[in-house]
Amino acid sequence: MIFDEKFISKLKNARSLVFFTGAGISAESGIPTFRGKDGIWNKLKPEELANFNAFLKNPDMVWEWYQYRRKIVNESKPNPGHTAIKDFENHYDVSVVTQNVDNLHGRAGSNNIYELHGNIERNYCIDCLKPFSIEHYRAESKGVPKCLECGGLVRPDVVWFGEMLPQKIFADAERKAEHCDICFIAGTSAVVYPAAYIPVSARQHGAFLVEINIESTEISHHVDYSIFGNSGEILPEIYKAARSFFN
Ligand code: OAD
Repeated sequence: MIFDEKFISKLKNARSLVFFTGAGISAESGIPTFRGKDGIWNKLKPEELANFNAFLKNPDMVWEWYQYRRKIVNESKPNPGHTAIKDFENHYDVSVVTQNVDNLHGRAGSNNIYELHGNIERNYCIDCLKPFSIEHYRAESKGVPKCLECGGLVRPDVVWFGEMLPQKIFADAERKAEHCDICFIAGTSAVVYPAAYIPVSARQHGAFLVEINIESTEISHHVDYSIFGNSGEILPEIYKAARSFFN
């Protein structure tokens, strides 16, 4: 794969990289995206599933939808895109700022992960906030579970629409974006705020922005370089190019 010369020169001189990722990076692992062709939100309504009031109104339905998604995630594996991001750690200071809740960056071995929208492998009680892992509640069990301490409803530890992002994680991720040399925006439509401020912050502080996506997005006109194609193919190629500088 041939890359733009300016990008290659930036990559050669960079020390710190931020990867801002979204559902598209896990698409090649078999996890459906939210928007675009075959996107979840084409068939289902976010306000009926990814929303606290919906959970209170119909906790069993919301819980079972998350159990279904957990099953898909459990059966999937990190793909070469996740692995390449981990491999960049061999030569750079790498931060992964992800909107994904699937933990595939974690399973690929990345060390500095900022999960802006939570993690589907965790749960907590809406009343006493006690955390529970997925092992506490079997995938085949039906209906929303009750807290083992106080009997409250247990929900997935993900950020729903209208909810605050975890403030410290977001602030730390923003700081990384402000100090990075290159910000990669991989597999995200970059339309959901405040998460989508991450590349904006990076840009405002002088980072070089590189988008990797199968199609153009809202952010394409604001980046320095767009590479169109599958992140699972492009990221390993970029890593290969980077590795050659260090041999
Ligand atoms: P989206 O589903 O909005 O966007 C996925 C992006 O990945 C699209 O731009 C696709 O073109 C691109 N894409 C698909 N396959 C790809 C591939 N193989 N390689 C590269 N790019 C690919 O997902 P997000 O941007 O992550 O939030 O969505 C942001 C948030 O909206 C999610 O975290 C979730 C969702 O509703 C909440 O639930 C709060």
